[in-house]
Amino acid sequence: MSETGPATPPKATVARGERRRLLSGMRPTGSSHLGHLVGAYRNWVAMQDEFDAFYCIVDWHALTTDYRDTSGLPASTLEIATDWLAVGLDPDRCTLFVQSEVKEHAELHLLLSMVVPIPWLERVPTYKEIIRQLVERDLHTYGFLGYPVLQAADILIYDAAVVPVGEDQEPHIELTREIARRFNAIFGDVLTEPEVRLTPSPRLPGTDGRKMSKSYRNVIGLAEEEKVIRSRLRTMMTDPARKRLKDPGDPAKCPVFDLHRIFSDEATRSWASAGCRSAGIGCIQCKGALADHLVEELAPIAERRKEFAARPDDVRDVLAAGRAQAAEAAAATMERVREAVRLPSG
Ligand code: TRP
Ligand code: SF4
Repeated sequence: MSETGPATPPKATVARGERRRLLSGMRPTGSSHLGHLVGAYRNWVAMQDEFDAFYCIVDWHALTTDYRDTSGLPASTLEIATDWLAVGLDPDRCTLFVQSEVKEHAELHLLLSMVVPIPWLERVPTYKEIIRQLVERDLHTYGFLGYPVLQAADILIYDAAVVPVGEDQEPHIELTREIARRFNAIFGDVLTEPEVRLTPSPRLPGTDGRKMSKSYRNVIGLAEEEKVIRSRLRTMMTDPARKRLKDPGDPAKCPVFDLHRIFSDEATRSWASAGCRSAGIGCIQCKGALADHLVEELAPIAERRKEFAARPDDVRDVLAAGRAQAAEAAAATMERVREAVRLPSG
């Protein structure tokens, strides 16, 4: 700092330790796509200054469904951490870490499992559904049934006040609250009931019009090159009524327009909408304008991703530092919990 003091006065921000604690997690499932950006990352980045934010790569959760072949796990973990840094999660402002590196998650999971009635787990809406969907995997395991208890431990071990998740996860957070209440009723007030913060979930179709998902092979990657983005959009499904240029279309029936809603500005959207209805523009033009906006948002992410991908050891260092921060917070909670349960201290 120069002798005359800083050129700009320090921002009047609340110190990290005084902000409300936030936790969210994501499984390491390989490279991220637009669904992750819209459904999580945009919000996570926005929240890292408002909260004392902890973002966790939940590798143990990945094992609950993919326990047979874990060979891809180390690479997927590094990949998702690289994505997180590329989108702008900043290790100086939030804590980025790997679940399995903080063993206290497992200890709290064990203690919670003592008080969680099995019917609470069997009636989680996703439980039977996923068993039915993934018939090729045997999910009649103890670990898979206990998935939401592990998730509850992830949250409760950090005394998280706020948990930002998509709508599909809401039952898990509600269950976390019920587990905390039950545990507190038995052992005294040791766990903090978290509040759910639903992230907006606009419809985000993939290139074939179905929900964007890796298993449908219809994704646009987060760090895709410009020419790939443009070519993926060129073949993207549109309103089938627009077979020829002179056929008018309906943006409400077009997955491309759903992406305009998320990535384009108001002026582009009204231009596309009017031009589609009047057949004044062609789909190629319409997609070109969308591509411009997508590229504008994704190019800096791709750029940063390339930089971090070239320095995997730096990414590992970020996770190591995050682990130390997370472990400190987790250890404090576990001390309190052990005392309440009358177990020897750690
Ligand atoms: N179950 C979440 C999902 O599939 C991932 C997750 C694990 C999580 N632990 C968490 C999310 C804790 C929020 C908080 O998306
Ligand atoms: Fe879809 Fe745009 Fe074509 Fe209309 S003009 S059908 S909104 S791609």
